[in-house]
Amino acid sequence: MSEPILEVRNLTVHFYTYAGIVKAIEDVSFDVYKGETFALVGETGCGKSVTSRALTQLIESPGRIVRGSVIYHSDKGSVDLLKLNEEEIREIRGSEIAYIFQDPHSSLDPLYTVGYQIAEGMEVHGRVKSIKEGIQKAVDILRSVLIPDPESRVKNYPHELSGGMKQRVVIGTGIANSPKILIADEPTTALDVTVQAQILELIDDLRKKYNATVILITHNLGVVAETADRVAVMYAGKIAEIGSVEQIFKNPLHPYTKGLLKAVPNPMTKVERLDAIPGTVPNLITPPGGCRFHPRCPFAMEICKKKVPELKEIEDGHFVACHLY
Ligand SMILES: Nc1ncnc2c1ncn2[C@@H]1O[C@H](COP(=O)(O)OP(=O)(O)O)[C@@H](O)[C@H]1O
Ligand SMILES: [Mg+2]
Repeated sequence: MSEPILEVRNLTVHFYTYAGIVKAIEDVSFDVYKGETFALVGETGCGKSVTSRALTQLIESPGRIVRGSVIYHSDKGSVDLLKLNEEEIREIRGSEIAYIFQDPHSSLDPLYTVGYQIAEGMEVHGRVKSIKEGIQKAVDILRSVLIPDPESRVKNYPHELSGGMKQRVVIGTGIANSPKILIADEPTTALDVTVQAQILELIDDLRKKYNATVILITHNLGVVAETADRVAVMYAGKIAEIGSVEQIFKNPLHPYTKGLLKAVPNPMTKVERLDAIPGTVPNLITPPGGCRFHPRCPFAMEICKKKVPELKEIEDGHFVACHLY
């Protein structure tokens, strides 16, 4: 195993709303290794986006990072990203650590050409001296994200491109500054299935080409199985389990992970009904005490209602937060 590029510890984010304090993520800890694809999976609302955004302090009011540390091992040394001031973190965000967001429609500005938008991100970080130079470079970037005829596409406005092409442009803006870490938050959710596969392949090719690390956020376990090296499973704002793809799929430990895997249709057998996990995702203003999964867990014990389970390493690199172990 290579060395960690990110060490996240006890990351906790609360949203202070009129309805109450939303405990969106609580004591989230994981490592991401250099050069790998690390997947963050879980149902909608479990805290994947909040976790990924908190890594670079991208949490807006009424949200606040309550505690935790995010140690980033860069070429220039190691820093806690949560201790940097606004100017320092801005320098890293978008250049060394870049995001590709879910929805290309809202990630691109309809008023500017795609070339201008890629160029602007480069100019802000001093990678080019002028927008004009940036637009020239944008042609190469569009070519590297496999957009046909990039010399003319660079002059297009977002509405002139298909959904798949727009998402390629968004990926282009993400990789324009050759980031060390690329965080892709549900990068294919808005796209149809064939385009999804192409986009995932593109992200993986770019990871190899630029020697980057990818954090892939998805609620789709099929995507995880095909593209990730390691996986963290989240439930209701907590990490339930972490392991290699093989460990998670062949030997899932947490009852929630087991339930999730059962809910995935097996392409070999024609299932009519998904074996969904009974119950609903808890309200995060008043989450269940102890293990947040206990009300839905078929193996729940007395201790599960009272004590928050710690993340424990059960076999090499395989961690689980569950009182059964
Ligand atoms: N601006 C906000 N105000 C209040 N609650 C929020 C806000 N943003 C996110 N949350 C809450 O944080 C939790 C995690 O959200 P999110 O990370 O977006 O989930 P996911 O990406 O896994 O679907 C959810 O319960 C959501 O309601
Ligand atoms: Mg999300």
